[in-house]
Formats: sequence, C-alpha cells, structure tokens
Amino acid sequence: MKTEIKTVITSNGEVVIREIENSDLQLLAKYANNPKVAINLRDAFPNPYALEDAIRFKEAIDKQNPKTIYAIEFKGEYVGNISLTPGTDVYRRSAEIGYFIGEPFWNMGIMSKAVDLITDWGFKALGIVRIYTGVFEYNIASQRVLEKCGFKKEAIFRKSICKNNIIYDEIRYSKVKE
Ligand SMILES: CC(C)(COP(=O)(O)OP(=O)(O)OC[C@H]1O[C@@H](n2cnc3c(N)ncnc32)[C@H](O)[C@@H]1OP(=O)(O)O)[C@@H](O)C(=O)NCCC(=O)NCCS
Repeated sequence: MKTEIKTVITSNGEVVIREIENSDLQLLAKYANNPKVAINLRDAFPNPYALEDAIRFKEAIDKQNPKTIYAIEFKGEYVGNISLTPGTDVYRRSAEIGYFIGEPFWNMGIMSKAVDLITDWGFKALGIVRIYTGVFEYNIASQRVLEKCGFKKEAIFRKSICKNNIIYDEIRYSKVKE
C-alpha cells in the first residue's frame, strides 16, 4: 500500500500547517460549502462549493511554486485552509494572510493557533516583515483572531467591500516583525 507523506510547513503538535493533499478534497468541499463561510470571503470563493471546485483549486495549487495555500490539520484531521501570499516588487517583504475553518471547529481556538504558527513561519522562513489582511466589518470572529495573535488594526477602508450587493467597510490589520 502506498503511504502518503505529508509535507509539514509548521506545527505545534496539535495544529499542523501542511500542504493540501488530494485526500483532503472531500472535506474541503464539505466545509467550504457553507454560506456562513462564503459570506466572509471574496466572491472568487465558490458558493455553493462542489467537489469539482475543490479539485480545480488543488490543480491550481499544484502549479504554484512556491505554494501559498496550505491545509490546517487539528489532532490529525483536515479542518480548513490558510494562505500566506507574498507581494511583488517593493511589497515583496510583505504577505497577505487568508483563512477559513469548517464550522464544526469554530470557537475552539484552532485558527488563532494556525495564524500564530504561519505568522512565525513567514517571519522566520520567508524573510517576511509585514503580514496583513482585510476583514469585512461584520466578521467579529476573524477580527478577534487577529487581535489575539498580536495584529494591530491599522485602517478602515470605508465602503470598500461590495458583498451580496451591500456595501461594507473593510477593517485592515497587520503584524510586523519586531
Ligand atoms: C473566523 C474564523 C476563521 C475563526 O476561526 P476559529 O478557529 O473559530 O477562531 P478562534 O476559536 O481561534 O477564535 C475566535 C474568537 O472569536 C470569538 N467570537 C466568535 N464569534 C464571535 C462573535 N459573534 N462576537 C464576538 N466574538 C466572537 C470567539 O469567542 C473567539 O474569541 P475568544 O478566544 O476570545 O473567546 C472562522 O469562524 C471561519 O473560518 N469563518 C469563516 C471564514 C472567515 O471568516 N475567514 C476569515 C476571513 S477575514
């Protein structure tokens, strides 16, 4: 029998950030196919989300070098995705962070641990000095995650979001390498 060797990026033992595997795709589609997830993400995130979307997503990741999107594993189980996307040109020492986790795992502290892990890894392994993201104004859980992980609120991009044809502010957060 072929044993799958998972490429671990960083881990604290309980929460592991690793490359996305084909064997994750069923669960990825299951957890992503949730309007409560999609409402907090860009429209490029399919809604509804089918297995074919997960397969296309994995094909795109397979072409990336280096990869920017990873799986989050909690106690040995796939639970969601996290991304760290370095900028280009003068922004090449900055990276945008993005994430989602399946609803059954919300409010267990998992994403806060995953954000801490990938942030530390980005600062140490990638030479990144600034990690940033934008959160839709109504996404209090994500703002809380960032604040718990030492991100600072640095701006409000007023009326910058149009989600489901309603206009919202975006709250911008960043953490810099000290
Ligand atoms: C946002 C998200 C990533 C949070 O992941 P998580 O693993 O549940 O996060 P954690 O458990 O580490 O922390 C969540 C915190 O938000 C708090 N929280 C959750 N809902 C809240 C609400 N409606 N109001 C206030 N606080 C809330 C929790 O109590 C917890 O804070 P605490 O530890 O101080 O009690 C997850 O809900 C998710 O994937 N949502 C859909 C996609 C998404 O929003 N992605 C981010 C886009 S910017």
